[in-house]
Amino acid sequence: MSLDSVLARVDADLNKATDRLMALLRIPSISTDPAYSDHCDAAADWLVDDLRSIGFDADKRTTSGHPMVMAHGEGSGPHVMFYGHYDVQPVDPLDLWDSPPFEPAIEDTPKGKVIRGRGSSDDKGQLMTFVEACRAWKAVHGSLPAKVSIFFEGEEESGSPSLVPFMEANREELTADVALICDTGLFGESTPAIVTRLRGLLGEELTITGPNKDLHSGMYGGIARNPIRVLAKIIASLHDASGRIMVPGYYDGVEELPPKIAQQWNDLGFENAKFLGEVGLGLPAGEDGRTGLEMIWSRPTCEVNGIGGGYQGDGFKTVLPAKASAKISFRLVPGQDPLKLRESFRAFVQSQLPDDCTVAFASHGASAASEMSTDHPAFEKARAALSAEWPNEAAFVGCGGSIPIAGHFKQILGMDAMLIGFGKDDDQIHSPNEKYDLSSFHKGIRSWVRVLDALSK
Ligand code: BES
Ligand code: MN
Ligand code: MN
Repeated sequence: MSLDSVLARVDADLNKATDRLMALLRIPSISTDPAYSDHCDAAADWLVDDLRSIGFDADKRTTSGHPMVMAHGEGSGPHVMFYGHYDVQPVDPLDLWDSPPFEPAIEDTPKGKVIRGRGSSDDKGQLMTFVEACRAWKAVHGSLPAKVSIFFEGEEESGSPSLVPFMEANREELTADVALICDTGLFGESTPAIVTRLRGLLGEELTITGPNKDLHSGMYGGIARNPIRVLAKIIASLHDASGRIMVPGYYDGVEELPPKIAQQWNDLGFENAKFLGEVGLGLPAGEDGRTGLEMIWSRPTCEVNGIGGGYQGDGFKTVLPAKASAKISFRLVPGQDPLKLRESFRAFVQSQLPDDCTVAFASHGASAASEMSTDHPAFEKARAALSAEWPNEAAFVGCGGSIPIAGHFKQILGMDAMLIGFGKDDDQIHSPNEKYDLSSFHKGIRSWVRVLDALSK
């Protein structure tokens, strides 16, 4: 059977596929740091060369930021558009890595072999699962089972500044019957998952200024306003005792989960204590009366990601600082309007500010949540294909993270996106010692072979 011979080819080629992934992982394509922009360019070149070697008509498209990679392969049947991102997160703190982040290696662990290195899971290992699936099809049959286009971005980890203009300028080239995105995870250890709900993200940084210079906290303490105390009070006011977010209008448009999805999620058998136990915690800290999966997949959040002000060096300094700042992210769910909430948050902060303090805001992105309808026949086809590869039936799940392009495919191009990925919760994406299980890579490639076959029918 044609499918079996392609799967056999994947198995036989796994070592070489791993070597190719390691070559890509050696390129430090950190998008947020301008010092690495030549490396981002080199990663795009590497991908173009690799796609050409498979027979894709591939090239690098310059933008005002890092380049995009576009590739088209010949094939009959439906047209699929695959998306992944070749950029990676910064590696700091470097001293917490057990091996150099851009010197990837295969490592034996109690849970099996892993590929260790920055980007191994997010997202180079994942995007290569699709590329390798295409390579195997071509090697066995000389052709692809569908018309396949590939779109790689190099700015996903730094807010995708070039993405919307690029999509608007290349609508026709980017439009296909369905989009496929490989940037999410399995559910648990071995349940393949298709994500149908993704949270959006609103990033806000605020800096509160009080006195016009740092002050001696003995000479001025008591009479002068301390901006750290002002900031702390504002942060404390963002949630009430039940975990509800107090920004006015924050829950406007937020709906309860449809009963069918609530049931699907309950059937997944998620255990709060197990999930939190892996990271040294035990008590869910979200809104009262919500399940753990609701907290991470379908309820909006407000989290402080960073806070600063005053003396933070060694020792002690009795200072009353001029400024205090915080970086706050809101994970948004369907129905919430990011731009409206940005205004509402800023007004909420402003309303609590003493008259002799000022606040300045900086934006770090505002992208809406997305919700996929599973009515598109591709969803059932993919679900069956994934269930054939893995020990468990594929599940429709949510994702607490954000992947802005999923919404753009729908809004700008009118396309449905299917998010299928093979990462694991313990991959440590964005953190030191990121890894991708060799089994995720291997079975991920095999999964795409099966999904492409199913979509072609
Ligand atoms: N691949 C992640 C999204 C993700 C996170 C999927 C966790 C599954 C589990 C993506 O690269 C990412 O990191 N997104 C950012 C948003 C982006 C706008 C910086 C995020 O979710 O913080
Ligand atoms: Mn990613
Ligand atoms: Mn990421």
